[in-house]
Amino acid sequence: MPVNNRIADFHDEIAEWRQTIHQHPGLLYDVEETAALVSEKLKSFGVDEVVENIGRTGVVAVIKGRKSDSGKVIGMRADMDALPIVEKNDSPYKSKYEGKMHACGHDGHTAMLLGAAKYLAETRNFDGTAVVIFQPAEEGGAGGKAMVDDGMMDRFGIQEVYGLHNMPGVPLGDFAIRSGALMAGTDEFTITVNGLGAHAAMPHNGNDPIIIATQMVQALQTIVSRNIDPLSSAVVTVTAIHAGKAYNVIPQEAQFYGTIRTLDREVRAQVMERMHEVVNGIASAYGAEVDIAIKEGYPVTVNHDAQTDFAASVAKDIVGEGRVVTDKLPVMGGEDFSYMLEARPGAFIFMGNGDTAGLHHEEYDFNDEAIPVGSSYWAKIIETAMPAG
Ligand code: NI
Repeated sequence: MPVNNRIADFHDEIAEWRQTIHQHPGLLYDVEETAALVSEKLKSFGVDEVVENIGRTGVVAVIKGRKSDSGKVIGMRADMDALPIVEKNDSPYKSKYEGKMHACGHDGHTAMLLGAAKYLAETRNFDGTAVVIFQPAEEGGAGGKAMVDDGMMDRFGIQEVYGLHNMPGVPLGDFAIRSGALMAGTDEFTITVNGLGAHAAMPHNGNDPIIIATQMVQALQTIVSRNIDPLSSAVVTVTAIHAGKAYNVIPQEAQFYGTIRTLDREVRAQVMERMHEVVNGIASAYGAEVDIAIKEGYPVTVNHDAQTDFAASVAKDIVGEGRVVTDKLPVMGGEDFSYMLEARPGAFIFMGNGDTAGLHHEEYDFNDEAIPVGSSYWAKIIETAMPAG
């Protein structure tokens, strides 16, 4: 079965929703406009139940099949939030809010899942219950966790959960997935060197926290290059350094921060251990105090075996065997669908966005041609997992 014909019929309508969402981006949990649009559309489709404000601004809707004897309940999730980026596109549906932009395609994810909800509510050609999940705050706010913490899985009886993300540079309609770790766990570190400042011309009277901090930044590069097994994966990236504010003063303090990405707990623990040893060792060598603060971020996104096989088979049904990669290499980006996968078995899949600018780029735009493929994927997940018989 290729793309669902009925869904292809309302391709233009779904693209219109996508572009409306694109024009009104919201950051993190401030997605009220999009949540309102989602909620209003779902109600107009005649779904069985729409519940707002789960995980603060998340929306969940329930669509019951023609039969519900199977007792199965499957969740499908889209994210609704945008990014703090000034859009550089000149499309007629360019962001109306300067400095906010749908640069990760969550507008497309939301529209495609709405399209599937419309189709499923109209046809009900399945035996069980479909739950559509629209979450806020994927981009660093752990909206997925907020929804899980709000009891979403139990409240709606969700047994399995599926997620999808578009992927620029991958041909339109191609899918990629893997069992096990698909995306990295993310941690943020902040390292503060409390040293002894001095007159810039009398450096011997202090211990110069700038020199100490820059040595730490250099030494941290050896964790990945010299401590982690070359066949394992880790990232330690320093993204900011702050110290001083005068030409003639050595400051008292230097601070730098960044991100750690790993694909399993053991490597993560090894990175943490070495980070403490290296930083504390350098601080002690120069007689400075140091504070290391770690903020645990999203867990590793781990796909479950059976659900990964199932998701891949559904994708193959739509676009053909040759267009679904099932041994995709993991990506070191993070994804908060990981919290839902910790709560229930499921799978996260990538779908090609064609030759567009990359994710989080000021010229990125979700490819509306992908809509029928993505919406068909969602509809087919439900109709295949819970066949009407
Ligand atoms: Ni994203």
